Amino acid sequence: MNKIYIVGIGPGSSDYLTKKAIETVKNSDITVGSERAIKLFDEIQEKISFNVKDLVEKLEEAVELAINGSTVSILSTGDPGFSGVLKTVLRIADEKGFNKENIEVIPGISSLQLAAAKNHIQWDMANVMTFHGRENIEDILPVINNGKTTIALPSRKVKDMAQFLLDNNVNPNRKVTVCERLSYDNEKIVHSTLKEIANSEFTYMCIMIIY
Ligand SMILES: C[S@@+](CC[C@H](N)C(=O)[O-])C[C@H]1O[C@@H](n2cnc3c(N)ncnc32)[C@H](O)[C@@H]1O
Repeated sequence: MNKIYIVGIGPGSSDYLTKKAIETVKNSDITVGSERAIKLFDEIQEKISFNVKDLVEKLEEAVELAINGSTVSILSTGDPGFSGVLKTVLRIADEKGFNKENIEVIPGISSLQLAAAKNHIQWDMANVMTFHGRENIEDILPVINNGKTTIALPSRKVKDMAQFLLDNNVNPNRKVTVCERLSYDNEKIVHSTLKEIANSEFTYMCIMIIY
């Protein structure tokens, strides 16, 4: 039916999958996503998995399949519009002449939303920032002391981001919370200070909150 759905799958656990995401995948001819994302769905027709290295190639294939008449779901962690695949899919679709009107975004619960919820943060009052896959880390400096809580997807390791802030004269005793692997069985939430976080190891799957 020449349709692409970009489906937000939430932070990782199937508890946070929406009914809409489940139905959309079930009714799609082909679903494209990471192995981890695909595993969340019990009812799925044809599937194509991607990894970090072949992501763009597989997204191009997904758009081609839709051009050739398939209904295609593309899975995106959290919400597709927050450091997700939305921008890349729109670019590829535009390059290939696929009509944007035939692309539908199914929102998902962002890892950032879950981090805010777990820490009782009203996130419309926070500095919400993403440095994922970017090197614009200095954009945090003009807001870090504006009196609001900052919630960020780090660009590098969490400890490197903490060190960057210390190197830029942010108070070493600032309270920091790191939310790691949210919604998974091994979820970890650490409340600490900037100077301690600069000496701690975390995986890449983290949200950093600076109070
Ligand atoms: C490509 S971005 C995707 C963000 C996603 N679109 C969202 O709305 O959550 C991947 C980054 O999101 C964050 N992230 C995704 N899932 C997470 C989780 N379950 N727990 C903590 N951070 C997570 C990490 O910072 C990770 O490096």
